[in-house]
Amino acid sequence: MDKPPERYDAHLTDFKGIAYIEGIDRYQDLYTRSIEDVEGFWAEQAREYLSWEKEWDSVLHYDFEAGNVEWFRGAVLNASFNCLDRHLGKGDNRVAYYWEGDDPAESRQVTFRELYRQVNRFAGVLKSRGVRKGDRVVIYLPMIVELPVAMLACARIGAVHCVVFSGFGSEYLTDRIRDSRARTVVTADGSSRGGSIIRLKENVDHAVQRCPDVDTVIVFDRCGLKPALDGRREIWWHEAVAQPSIPDHVAPEPMEAEDPLFLLYTSSSTGRPLGLVHTHGGYLLYAAMTTHLSFDLKPHETFWSTPDVGWITGHTYGVYGPLLNGLTSVLFEGVPRYPDFDRYWSIVAKYRVNKFYTAPTVIRLLAQHGTENVTKHDTSSLKLLGSVGQPIDPEAWMWYHQYPGRGVCPIIDTWWQTESGGHMITPLPGVAAIKPGSCSFPFMGVDPVLIDPDTGDEVRFPNQEGALFIRKPWPGMARTAFEDHERFRETYFARFPGLFFTGDAAKRDEDGYYWITGRIDEVINVSGYRMGPAEVEAALVLHPQVTESAVVGFPHRLKGQGIYAFVTLAAGSSKSDKIRKELIDLVRTKIGPIATPEAIQWADGLPKTRSGKVLRQLLQKIAAGNFDNLGDTSIISEPAIIENLIRERMGIDAS
Ligand code: WTA
Repeated sequence: MDKPPERYDAHLTDFKGIAYIEGIDRYQDLYTRSIEDVEGFWAEQAREYLSWEKEWDSVLHYDFEAGNVEWFRGAVLNASFNCLDRHLGKGDNRVAYYWEGDDPAESRQVTFRELYRQVNRFAGVLKSRGVRKGDRVVIYLPMIVELPVAMLACARIGAVHCVVFSGFGSEYLTDRIRDSRARTVVTADGSSRGGSIIRLKENVDHAVQRCPDVDTVIVFDRCGLKPALDGRREIWWHEAVAQPSIPDHVAPEPMEAEDPLFLLYTSSSTGRPLGLVHTHGGYLLYAAMTTHLSFDLKPHETFWSTPDVGWITGHTYGVYGPLLNGLTSVLFEGVPRYPDFDRYWSIVAKYRVNKFYTAPTVIRLLAQHGTENVTKHDTSSLKLLGSVGQPIDPEAWMWYHQYPGRGVCPIIDTWWQTESGGHMITPLPGVAAIKPGSCSFPFMGVDPVLIDPDTGDEVRFPNQEGALFIRKPWPGMARTAFEDHERFRETYFARFPGLFFTGDAAKRDEDGYYWITGRIDEVINVSGYRMGPAEVEAALVLHPQVTESAVVGFPHRLKGQGIYAFVTLAAGSSKSDKIRKELIDLVRTKIGPIATPEAIQWADGLPKTRSGKVLRQLLQKIAAGNFDNLGDTSIISEPAIIENLIRERMGIDAS
């Protein structure tokens, strides 16, 4: 494979006369205005991208030291109205979703009008079950049309959706139902992924047993598994929406701009997951605008963002962004390897997808299976390829560009986070040359700052690495953690007074391009998905023979990072493969396959400071097989532990 060029600029010719934002000067004008005239700039964008029932009294109030941010005070709007109602009338037979089943024989098209109809009826069902404005609804559904339907139905009545990725297991689901204090759960009997069935309703049963406040479980019949429902707490989706008492139209609830639209749980470096809260006003504006500009999407184009709606990418670029812009997109239930490794490209060809968005881990996986899987399909409709979730390495960049992209598609490497709601640093296709591996320049309104961790000063030289902070609020940012503002403040605003902490490190080169170098906290990025060490550790210690564990990330060829677990067994337990397998099974069922440890290393003891804090950075180095520079080991209470860990590590094949 050839190396990628240092600068790629052919797209500037291809997007000339087409791009919404053309040329570096135009970008710089807009960007400067977005930073210098924050209120004027965002008021203009808010009118451009959204329909407001009532406009704001003021655009922005904030106090970063307290972690408080408020956009569009006094304004009123509704997310479901903005995604659906305002596209009705002329053109509402436009396709909102091309839905493609796990089984290639199954597919379906849903127009904006049909989506509107389904959302209204489901909103009616939720109301009939007593769901009110502000109530949380947990949605645990596979990638089927009913997933966006349920989300928009919540938004319509002002309920707060909390989507839990359907690949997560019952323990995770239980935690989220509990933490969000949801009384309603929307699920399916099962989900079909890669040709096998996952029994979602059984996971819900386990969870609901431990969440007695849940009074409604609505079950969509996806797989024909026919679980017995009690008919009181548990009802079938298809029966509920068919009730004659359910109205065809439910008026969208007037929502204040700062009212919560959804909760999405994400892993932070310590403790339990954080339920980040995103709002009706700012989030929607940011979702609509970034979708429009980063992918330069035109009204007639078809967009496909592959990540599951259970993650932020699916919320913003699979649901809200495209629907707000009235765009057609693809919703795919399955996985890229089923029935074969050409599945994505067969879907691109089938729907003539123009703009495509996925994670580097997928590209690395597909690249391993040869180029013919791509070239046997007609991918000539593709004009732009997006990347998200991890840094994209040169080989993956080149393969993505040369095969699906036929050597002509630019790669838009978007850096952002669950916390940010939408793209933060990303190339815009008409603006400037791309440097493969760099996510280019900040999006409008985003003011990044690199801080030298040793001195606490802003980094002064090009290419000097620093911790990445953001200086000003942007509309898409999360506002709080559900019922735990103090933890939110502490996690994001306490490191450096007045700045938002991203958890990543980055460099800025001599041309002003940003290069993300990875997390500097303990969050592990597995295939572009975030995992917190504490969550995996909590699952491991459920095993009766485990007394303690410490989980860290380590470099993994395909996934970017893999999960590496150090496990201490109770005295007298044998360090057997049987226990190893039990531990892996435990993590898979409690959290989900995504958290499967790549390696489990027995540790007679864990390296701790005298005050008992586990030294994770040291464990990260040992997991990576990087023994030369272990740092100051004198602070460890029992130094012999390290020698043992290194000796054990040498015997493990982890890559
Ligand atoms: C990482 C996913 C490098 C980063 C949208 C961030 C990236 C975390 C990129 C957020 C990228 C995301 N280049 N690293 N283009 N995009 N990351 O919350 O470490 O699941 O902090 O949001 O993924 O992950 P999250």
